[in-house]
Amino acid sequence: MTAMSYSQTRLVQALQKRAPPVAPFSISISVSAGIINFAVLLTKNHILVEYLPSWFPGTYYVNHARKWAPKVKEFRDLPFEGVRHQMEQGSAKPCLVASELEALGDENADSNITIGDIKGAAATTYSAGVGTTSSALSVFVMAMILHPEYQAQAQAELDAVVGTQRLPEFNDRDSLPFLQCLIDETLRWFSPFPAGIPHLSMEDDVYKGMFIPKGSTIIANARGMSWDEKVYANPFNFEPTRYLPAPLGRGEPRPVAHWGFGRRICPGRHFADSSLWIAIATILSTLSISKAIDKDGNEITPELTFVASIASQLKPFPFCTKPRSEEVAKLLSQVDVADDY
Ligand code: HEM
Repeated sequence: MTAMSYSQTRLVQALQKRAPPVAPFSISISVSAGIINFAVLLTKNHILVEYLPSWFPGTYYVNHARKWAPKVKEFRDLPFEGVRHQMEQGSAKPCLVASELEALGDENADSNITIGDIKGAAATTYSAGVGTTSSALSVFVMAMILHPEYQAQAQAELDAVVGTQRLPEFNDRDSLPFLQCLIDETLRWFSPFPAGIPHLSMEDDVYKGMFIPKGSTIIANARGMSWDEKVYANPFNFEPTRYLPAPLGRGEPRPVAHWGFGRRICPGRHFADSSLWIAIATILSTLSISKAIDKDGNEITPELTFVASIASQLKPFPFCTKPRSEEVAKLLSQVDVADDY
């Protein structure tokens, strides 16, 4: 079996059937990365980007912005209209757009939120959350293929705590310390958003003897912090045990740089942390992940290669999953993804 198990296929089918048409817009997310950086530069210098003619020197990204503006508009509008349509049909699931629209329709609610605000919040949440979370999940799958010993260790812990008759729940979290190490190591090994978003210094500052003038653009090197040899032994190795206290590990600090810093720290980090935990706990308790097999019966060892993108994205790689037992296969067949989402 290559690439996907039947349960994943069902999940993908359910998502294709139900999900708003957002996938084609991922390209606009990458384009917006360049636009963001250029816009920071122009707005910092009080240049009204909108009014620059297309022949103006240095307007490369402005022309990109003009070209992609209709796509960005669709990116805000289409998923929003999809939810509004589902609400009219009575089939909408609880979500940010549905709850904000309901609040908007409630005359007693004390709110000055507009439709534009709701569209903007939903589009921002999607664009900030999807590439980063999927990046972490694919790095996790890669780590499980390359390190079956840690996959087995996490599965033994899950079996002891959760058993095979039910799926993991958030209540189990405190009883699964190794699983937490594995997730922390996934985020440290290849942080999904290694350079974050540029910040601006509000005042003159001095850091370790270096003068940083007010108004400087600061790009934090989260990846450098996660791979700092003074903090992490063998930083390029995937070693989840590094966080365990001695003698099991080296008691190294849990990574935090991947969430960013200060006022602009990722506001979706608690959401992302919970979704990563439940996804990884469920995958490990139900499925075995292994290398794909080529047509000659040889294992394919995937390469750690990344593609250019605002979030750090692994180049697609083949892998194989199968239910861990007959019991688990039965459990999976009872989960009707299409009904829940
Ligand atoms: C593993 C998943 C994620 C990682 C590693 C991550 C990381 C980051 C980082 C590094 C930043 C820039 C912080 C800074 O400028 O200092 C950021 C910004 C942001 N993130 Fe996340 N993020 C993740 C998931 C999410 C999710 C799921 C959401 C929404 C539900 C989200 C919403 C946002 C938003 C709205 C911003 C912009 C905040 C601002 O500029 O003020 N993120 N994220």
